[in-house]
Amino acid sequence: MMFKDKKFVLGVCGGIAAYKSAELCSWLRKEGAQVRVVMTQHATEFIAPLTFETLTQSPVYLDLFAPPRAYEMEHISWACWGDAFVIAPATANTIAKMAAGIADDALTTLYLSFEGPVVVAPAMNTRMWQHPATRANIATLEVRGVHIISPETGPLACGEEGEGRLASVRTIVDNLAYLLSQTVTKARTPRAHPETDDTTSFQLADSDGPLSGKTVVITSGPTHEYIDPVRFLTNPSSGKMGCALARAAAQLGATVHLVTGPVNPTVLPEECATIHKVTTAEQMLLAVEALRDKADVFIFAAAVSDFRVDRRIEQKIKRTGNSLTLELVENPDIAQAIGAKKRPDQVSVGFAAETHDVEANALCKMSRKRLDAIVANDVANPRIGFESDDNEVTIYVQNGDKRFISRRPKEDVARAVMEVVVELLQQKQRNKQV
Ligand SMILES: Cc1cc2nc3c(=O)[nH]c(=O)nc-3n(C[C@H](O)[C@H](O)[C@H](O)COP(=O)(O)O)c2cc1C
Repeated sequence: MMFKDKKFVLGVCGGIAAYKSAELCSWLRKEGAQVRVVMTQHATEFIAPLTFETLTQSPVYLDLFAPPRAYEMEHISWACWGDAFVIAPATANTIAKMAAGIADDALTTLYLSFEGPVVVAPAMNTRMWQHPATRANIATLEVRGVHIISPETGPLACGEEGEGRLASVRTIVDNLAYLLSQTVTKARTPRAHPETDDTTSFQLADSDGPLSGKTVVITSGPTHEYIDPVRFLTNPSSGKMGCALARAAAQLGATVHLVTGPVNPTVLPEECATIHKVTTAEQMLLAVEALRDKADVFIFAAAVSDFRVDRRIEQKIKRTGNSLTLELVENPDIAQAIGAKKRPDQVSVGFAAETHDVEANALCKMSRKRLDAIVANDVANPRIGFESDDNEVTIYVQNGDKRFISRRPKEDVARAVMEVVVELLQQKQRNKQV
C-alpha cells in the first residue's frame, strides 16, 4: 500500500469539482492512509460532510467556532497531525486568502498553522485561472513552498473548454507519493515562517546508493552549429537540467559522464561528473559513441540543434544588399543513433521539448528512438523550461506509466527522473533473471 501509516489532511473548497475529492479521499484510504477532512462552508453547497465522515470515519472540521468534540483546537492539533495538507479542489477565493494570509475559516486558519508540506490542486473556469490576480496568488504560494498541481485542459463544467479542470485523482496521488518520497518530517515543533526560517520543515531523504557501480552518460546544453566563423544556429538551453540530472545521479552513487554543449561553465557539476565539452551535434554524437559500451544509462537532455548548414562558410559573410538563403541539412539524431545499437540491459531516457501536441509527439519520439522513458515539457509555457530554474514535466514510460511532475526546481525534477531510471534498471535486472 502506497500510503501505509501516512496521514493526510484533505481540504475541500466550494467548487464544482468538490465531488472529485470524495474519490481522492477514498483512493488515499485504499492506499492505507488516514485522512481527516476540512471543508469550507461553501464546499458544503457541493458535497455533504457526511460523505467524507463516512469515508474517513472521522468528523469533518468545518466550523472554527463549534464546540470541540474532544478538547482540542483542531486548527492547531490537526496542523501537527498530518504528513501533508492537500487542498483539492482549491478555489480562486481560497487561493487568494491563502496568499494574503487571511484566516477567516477552518481551512485557511489550518493552512497558516500547518507544519508539513502543503499541496494545492486548483480547479476553476479558465478565465478565473488566467486572471492576473490568480496568477499572482499562485506565484506567491509557490515562492512560499506550496506545491501546486496545475489544473488540466479540457471541457469544463461551465460548458467551456480550456485550462482549469482539477488534475486527475491519479495525478494528485502520484504527486503526493512523489512529495512524501522526497521528504522526511522533522520533529514536530512549531516552525517559523518559511520565508524567515532557513531550516525548511522537511529535508531530502538520504541516498542509499541504488546507482552505485553504474555509469550514467548524460547529454546537456545546446549545440552551436556554425554558419560562418562568427554566427551559429542554437537555442536558449542553459544546461541546468542536464547538470541537475548529473548531480542527482551522482548522489545516488553513479559514475557520471556529462557531455555538454557550450554553457556557462559555472553551472557545470565538475565536483561529481567527468565533463566532456563539445560544440556541435556531430561532436556530441562522437563523444556519446565513445562512452557507449561503458554506459548503463543514457539520458539525452541536450537541446541538440536539428539542423546545420550544409557547408560552413570559411570567412565572415558580408552584406551584399541582397537577401541570403541558407541551405540546412539535418543533424544526426543522437538518441536515435544510440537507441538503434543499445544493449537490452542499457536504459535510455530522452527529453522532448515541445510547443504543441506534447503527449503525442513525446510518445512518437519514445518509440522511434527506442527509449525506455521520455520526459516531456511544454516549452511554449514561459514559466518553465529552457532558461528557467524550474521545470514542469510528464514522464512517459514504455510500460504505459505516466507521471506528472508539477512545476518545481530542476533539481527536484532531476530526482524524479532518476527514480524512474532506478526502477527501469531494476526491471531490466529482473527480466534478465527470468
Ligand atoms: C455552481 C458554482 C460552481 C463554482 N465552481 C467554482 C470552481 O470550480 N472554482 C472556483 O474557484 N470557484 C467556483 N465557484 C465560486 C466559489 O464557490 C466562490 O468563489 C466561493 O466564494 C468559494 O468559497 P470557498 O473558497 O470558501 O470554498 C462556483 C460557484 C458556483 C455557484
